[in-house]
This record gives sequence, structure tokens and C-alpha cells, in this order.
Amino acid sequence: MGWFITFEGIEGCGKTTQIKRLATELEKQGHTVRVTREPGGCPIADQIRSILLDGGNLAMTPLAELLLYAAARAQHIAEVIAPALAADQIVLCDRFTDATLAYQGYARGLDLKLVNDLNALATTGIKPDLTILLDCPVEIGLGRATTPVNAHGIKEERFELESLAFHQRVRNGYLEIARQEPERLRVLPADGTVDMVNTAVTATVLNRLAGN
Ligand code: TMP
Repeated sequence: MGWFITFEGIEGCGKTTQIKRLATELEKQGHTVRVTREPGGCPIADQIRSILLDGGNLAMTPLAELLLYAAARAQHIAEVIAPALAADQIVLCDRFTDATLAYQGYARGLDLKLVNDLNALATTGIKPDLTILLDCPVEIGLGRATTPVNAHGIKEERFELESLAFHQRVRNGYLEIARQEPERLRVLPADGTVDMVNTAVTATVLNRLAGN
């Protein structure tokens, strides 16, 4: 089995940049790396992503949102993550089940047990070996976040339109998950420079790959 490493944090915490830098470093060291993201990571899940992040879909109910994340994840696990792990690759995934717990559970207020049960169903029980939580104040993250327009011309802004209080609940939710699972989640400060954060991320991951 390979290694499954996920990256989490509020909007604008810098996950995507850090994942790219880490992937380059790991490949330099001879590892086969598969970079992927949620929601998305394969064509069917990318189509679900478009629905989820479309700023026009303001009427989406929290339950419909939760089920769409689960559907996208079930497809992504079957098509991308499970095969890559079976092929001994290192999978670096930009968001995973903790995002559902933080956003749909802690921030939206859906029942945490329901979210956990659906996560377990969608993942067939596959869990990250390590999760890097890039933590920074909400004001800093949102200040950095940009709104991408995807291949379908849709502005991915539905979550950026949420209130500051919503993003604060997301941040606190992530920190609570980290308190509950300190072995799996490593909290790294994300308000430093890209280089500073990269040094901490690389050291944490190499340490874990070395079995520590
Ligand atoms: P991204 O901006 O990191 O690509 O993530 C897309 C958005 O989807 C982000 O606002 C967080 C949200 N999200 C959830 O609400 N629940 C989830 O399970 C996942 C994976 C993402």
C-alpha cells in the first residue's frame, strides 16, 4: 500500500501551492506521486464539483450538499485514490473527509455522526495516513483567496460568499478534529511565507514517511 496524505484548511490557507511544492520534492526523491483534489479529481466528480461550487446555486439544501460531496468522493475513491494506493503511490489530496466534517458538520450544523457515517460509506473505510492542517486566521485566508472560474465558465464562489462567522466555525471545526485525532492531524501555521510553510510541510511529511 502507498501513502495517503491529505491537506486541509480554510479558504486561502495555501494548500494548493504547498501540495505542488511537496509533490516536486517527493518526485525528486524518487517517489511516484499522485496529486488530486476534492471535490473532484476525476471527470464525474469534477462535474459534481461544478454544481457544488456554482455561486448561482444558493438554494442548495445542506443535506443535498452533503450527499453531493459523498457522491463525488465515492467516485474519486474508486477511480483514483484506491488504485493509486494499491499501486504503492503517494497520494496527495487537496481536501478530503475532514473538510466535510468542518464545513457541512461544524459550520453548517449537520449532525456530526451523520457526516462521519456518510464519510465512512463513501470512502469504503480508506483513511488518510497523515493530514496536514494549514491553520491561519480567517481574515488572512479570505484576504488571499481568489475566485477561480472553472472549465465550464462557472465562478467557484459559493463558499466564499459565506459569512466570516461561517469560516470561523470551519476553522474551529478543523482545530477540534485535530484535538481529537492528534496522531493523524498535524497543525502547521500557514500565515508565514510560502517558503516557511513549505519547510514545515516537507519536514512533517518526510518524518512520517520515515516511520516516525
Ligand atoms: P477548494 O477551494 O479547496 O478547491 O475547495 C472547494 C470548496 O469546497 C471549499 O470552499 C470547501 C468546500 N468543501 C466542502 O464544503 N466540503 C467538502 O467535503 C469538501 C471536500 C470541500
